[in-house]
Amino acid sequence: MALSLLHRPRRLRSSPAIRNLVRETNLRSSDFILPLFVSEKATAPIPVKSMPGVFQLPHEALLAEAVAAHKDGVAAVLLFGLPTTKDEVASTAYAEDGVVQKAVRALKAKLPNLLVITDVCLCEYMSHGHCGVTHFDGERAHTLNDASVELLVKTAVSHARAGADIVAPSDMMDGRIGAMRKGLDQAGFQDTPILSYAAKFASAFYGPFRDAAESPPQIGDRKGYQMDPANGREALREVALDVSEGADMVMVKPGLPYLDILSKVKERFELPTFAYHVSGEYAMLKAAAQQGWLDEKACLLETMLAFKRAGADGVITYAARDLARWLNNR
Ligand code: PBG
Repeated sequence: MALSLLHRPRRLRSSPAIRNLVRETNLRSSDFILPLFVSEKATAPIPVKSMPGVFQLPHEALLAEAVAAHKDGVAAVLLFGLPTTKDEVASTAYAEDGVVQKAVRALKAKLPNLLVITDVCLCEYMSHGHCGVTHFDGERAHTLNDASVELLVKTAVSHARAGADIVAPSDMMDGRIGAMRKGLDQAGFQDTPILSYAAKFASAFYGPFRDAAESPPQIGDRKGYQMDPANGREALREVALDVSEGADMVMVKPGLPYLDILSKVKERFELPTFAYHVSGEYAMLKAAAQQGWLDEKACLLETMLAFKRAGADGVITYAARDLARWLNNR
């Protein structure tokens, strides 16, 4: 016997066409930002073991990868650099001919329409692997805030000078957004936007990235500057500070385990808001897919929908090329 129901939500699920009509969230290839690792040491692409499909790329291979990704429909890349030399003041992070600076110049010359975003941090350039100037007291690391900010500003300005479209500070020092805005303005880069890693947590999900970027802290951990995963309200205070200091766009990182924060940040600040689907999240999915335990394509698409549904305007993801290809039917 048929029930007489006023509300039957399934009425709107009865065909692909009607489901398309009422779909709230859609994916486009331009939603994704592809992280790329450019290495000064590598002479050929070096696969990152814990991140299938991700490579440390020498200069020429980076350009080739960017060309191919752009052809697939990727609209933006996020650059990380692996320098040959590191020291205690991260000299190669802000060197005119640093690995990222050279890559940005070449990328912008070759692909003027590809958005080139640079990750601004010091950990890849510091001999000790911390994100700022650090003093050690036995096994304890003390990362100095203001001295680090000074070097981060120099790094951001050098990226802008090389032609970066957007700078993205990922260090979590206090006051770095305001200082960076001032530094960029004084150097004539008033129009270079800052995408702040505003709520970045001290996460175990960064493990594979540290293999890719060769940046794990040699002594201690990052809990003195990155946020405690337990703190959601503090995340909103962190974002508020970055917004008040001039951040044009904000990011929440990691991704899926922090969708509650992403959603609140979008609702409260209404700025362009990005999520970082980080290395560990990517590695989990890839590993399960390789075992045949998950459908990689379906899970990736669902993951990206979840980010957008929660409020993300875009997602930084190592799967950006595949996603762009799938969405553009290439
Ligand atoms: C640099 C930086 C990290 C990531 C992005 N920028 C590592 C870290 O903070 O330890 C992680 C990205 C990822 O896991 O995919 N500070």
